[in-house]
Order: sequence, then structure tokens, then C-alpha cells
Amino acid sequence: MRLRHVKESRHVTEAKEFGRVAVLFGGTSTEREISLLSGNACLQALLRRGVDAHPFDPRDKPLNELVTRNFERVFIALHGPGGEDGTLQGALEFLGMPYTGSGVMGSAIGMDKLRTKRLAQAVGIPTTEYMVLRSPADLETCLERLGLPLIVKPATQGSSVGMTKVEKAEQLSGAFQAAALLEPNVFAEPWITGAEYTVAVLQGRALPSIRIETPATFYDYQAKYFRTDTKYHCPSGLSAEAEKHLANLSLGTFEAIGAEGWGRADFMMDKAGKPYLLEVNTIPGMTDHSLVPKAAGALGINFEQLVWQVLETSFCRTRIVA
Ligand SMILES: Nc1ncnc2c1ncn2[C@@H]1O[C@H](COP(=O)(O)OP(=O)(O)OP(=O)(O)O)[C@@H](O)[C@H]1O
Ligand SMILES: [Mg+2]
Repeated sequence: MRLRHVKESRHVTEAKEFGRVAVLFGGTSTEREISLLSGNACLQALLRRGVDAHPFDPRDKPLNELVTRNFERVFIALHGPGGEDGTLQGALEFLGMPYTGSGVMGSAIGMDKLRTKRLAQAVGIPTTEYMVLRSPADLETCLERLGLPLIVKPATQGSSVGMTKVEKAEQLSGAFQAAALLEPNVFAEPWITGAEYTVAVLQGRALPSIRIETPATFYDYQAKYFRTDTKYHCPSGLSAEAEKHLANLSLGTFEAIGAEGWGRADFMMDKAGKPYLLEVNTIPGMTDHSLVPKAAGALGINFEQLVWQVLETSFCRTRIVA
């Protein structure tokens, strides 16, 4: 007997078909502030479209209130651990509460940059080589193996937190310590000099890529949320062929890690034009200045329509049939 994955999707035309919706935002991760912005923007958009949507901050309320207060589905606008990493998704499965975006497995793997890279590699999606740094004893080998410059990252943080570019050998130890303070899973990868691209995925299709240009050393926390000199190009300027390639890599990565519904894949492209997957975000930022809304806008999908389509993903689940 062969097992087939069946994607169930539903396009909703009337706001009332969604029923009573809780928009989950806030939470307790280091990305709380961004989540407050994303969640508020999504809540307001849903309200403008007539959806019976209500704010719900899981920092302040136990999740079983979703059931006792008769919510029918959940729009998740939480970023980082406790919202984007599969734990919340598992709790919602237990409560029988449909939710937007990736399920338990895709969320958990997507939160972990190292595991995402390993799975991507396994299906032939190019990602940089890397070395796991377990202790200061690994640093010398790391320099020998990867060369300079390189970048040190904690595996499961978002928003560029704890990441350092290392240009000189003596900077590596400090970079390792900065990342290891946040979590035990730390790795290094070679620095790629070139352009940065991100591809949003919505309901199984890739949206036009965005090229990100920052005068900062890299697209760090400041460049992401505060600097006004970060430039976003969409269309990104890639040839049709390169655009298609990046779209396929993004969809292939989603498939490989089991991510669903919506999200974003980030890439660096080297000077020769070869893209390398950096990571997947299963609940990317959703303020009206964020990247996914920009990509949707390039296809004529406005913010309200985008939020609506993300909410539709709460009807989509991959079902395995015999
Ligand atoms: N190998 C690399 N070479 C050059 N620049 C890199 C490399 N890896 C990461 N960067 C830069 O660092 C930024 C952040 O890296 P990455 O996307 O891996 O994590 P993150 O953005 O912190 O995670 P999240 O998107 O979940 O917030 C990238 O957007 C890019 O500008
Ligand atoms: Mg990123």
C-alpha cells in the first residue's frame, strides 16, 4: 500500500466561515515586541475584513481558555520559542483547535537552523558547509576547516540575536561565547559575500523574491527593525530563470522540513550567482512593513487579503491516506 500526502485547502469567501478567531500574539520569547506589532497588524486587518477576531496573549492567559471561550480557530502571530517552535502547535492539537501555518514537526525543525540545513542538504538544496561548535576546543579546527571570514550562530534564535561575523581569528572565541550564552547549540558557517534574498511561501506557492540591501555588516536586529537605510527590492532583479530556481529551492525546503501554509526562506547568493539556503521562518514578521507583505504586494495581494489567506491555512492540513 502506498501512502499519499493530501493537502486539504479551503478558500473562504465569507468572514463568518472562519467563526470566532483568537489572534495569538505577545508571548514570552525575546521576540515579544515584534510579535505585538505583527499580531496587532493582523488583528486589525481581520477586523477590517469583518472577521470575528479577538486578541489573545498566551503570556497572560492559559491556553484552555481558547476552548472555554468558544474560539473556533487560532491565528498564530508569535515569533520564536514557545510560539514558532512546535510546542504551542502541539498544545493546540491536543485542544483540537485549528491553527495557521506549520504543524508540530515543521515548526520544530524550522526553529532549528542546523537541522534545517541537514535536511535541506539531504534533498540537494544548497546550503553552506558548517561546523558545530561544542566547546572552545573546537575553535581551532573551525578556523582550519571554514577559513575566514565566517559567521557564528546560535541554532534556534531568531532576529539575528547572538550572531557575530568573525573576520580575525582572535574574534572567534568572543563570538562563540556570545552565542553559547544563549543556548548550547552553536555553529559556524563560512561568510558568503554577495546578495541576500528572501522568498515568501503562501499556500504552497512561492511569492516573488525580495533582495535585501543593508549598509550594516549584515541584516542584523537593528537593520531588521530600526534602521531606515535598509533597502528592499521586489522585484529583486533576478532573471526569470534564477527567480524560478529560488522559488523551487524555497518550496523544496518547505517540503523537506515539513513546513506548511505560509512562511519564508532566506538565502545568500554568492558572487557567481549560486544561492545558499540560510534558514526558514515558519512565522515571519507580519507588520505592514515586513517582508512577506512586501512580496504579496508585488502580486497585488494587499495586507488584508494576505492575512485572510494566512487564516485560510488553518483549514489546511496534510493528511496521509493509504
Ligand atoms: N553565511 C552567511 N554569510 C553572510 N551573511 C550571513 C550568513 N548567514 C547569515 N548572514 C546574515 O545574517 C542574517 C541573519 O541570519 P539568519 O537568517 O541565518 O538568522 P536570523 O535572521 O537570525 O533568523 P530569523 O530570520 O529567524 O530572525 C542574514 O539575514 C544575513 O544578512
Ligand atoms: Mg533570517
